[in-house]
Amino acid sequence: MQATAIAQPNIALIKYWGKRDAERNLPAVGSISITLRELYTRMRVRFDDSAERDSLTVNGVPDRQMLPRLSACLDRVAGPARSSARIDSSCNFPIAAGLASSASSFAALTVAGAAAAGRRLERGALASLAGRASGSAARSLFGGFVELANAGDDIEVGTIREARDWPLSVVVAITESGPKRVGSTEAMEISRRTSPFYASWVERQDRDLDAAREAIAGRDFPGLAAIAEHNCLKMHSIMWASRPPTVFWNAATMRCLQTVRRLQADGVDVFFTIDAGPQVKAVCLRDGISDVEAALRATAGVTDVATTGLGDGARLEAGA
Ligand code: DP6
Repeated sequence: MQATAIAQPNIALIKYWGKRDAERNLPAVGSISITLRELYTRMRVRFDDSAERDSLTVNGVPDRQMLPRLSACLDRVAGPARSSARIDSSCNFPIAAGLASSASSFAALTVAGAAAAGRRLERGALASLAGRASGSAARSLFGGFVELANAGDDIEVGTIREARDWPLSVVVAITESGPKRVGSTEAMEISRRTSPFYASWVERQDRDLDAAREAIAGRDFPGLAAIAEHNCLKMHSIMWASRPPTVFWNAATMRCLQTVRRLQADGVDVFFTIDAGPQVKAVCLRDGISDVEAALRATAGVTDVATTGLGDGARLEAGA
């Protein structure tokens, strides 16, 4: 009746933005991501008949805000007739600041919840369940380079290239550590309803996915850099053109992009991507890590820098 799982966040290189079915949380477009290694969320789920209702602690502190979404996820994973659950979560990076904490949280919760309920599910089925809670969470079930595709009234997720085949690194520049003002669920719905660019975003996504897949297969860094930056800026321009507009960037976010451009001009293999928050993720080859770290650290407004490689999908913790 108890299990602990660990999951890493993932960073989309070709982004998920918009839903085709809000009720089932099905994405409007496919996406490709990389699963990280050093950042993690650990979730312990304990079903307890004696507890009246679900409870949650995050890094040891009781939390009511996230609980309804976690409870709904456990209902889908363990069935609505399940016992109440005590959920303890810990995370070694800022929560809800555009660092994909929901992805690692729901991936870990799904794996721990299924095991605690005694359900043996394949990874693909776990990914579908995690995706019902948060679209990007489905990708954290898998390691390395991961593609999520729409498949009928479900999704299909899997590793398209192992981390060891192309061990990229990610330097995350933290420019703000508070929780974000608008959640991605709400922001992408505003984009879908109001952005004049939304329809062409959906229509062109397959081309971006093809280009990224090809670059990953050929370990073509400049090719991946070009398509990932394009896809990222396209996603943010949809938001900027929405009503009301959603602007996740701050001044330091922009300065980080200029830093990345300068590094590129100096011949460093690096590119940027930004999600629903102000942090900048600089993806680079191992050789470039120290240059990228130093340059981002020296960028005004950057409060911290965290470097990570690529890692594995969500898994049960041994002995837990
Ligand atoms: C910008 O997965 O957080 O990070 O399904 O509504 O929970 P919900 O959205 P979420 O959106 C992630 C958006 C993104 C891009 C991406 O990860 O693909």
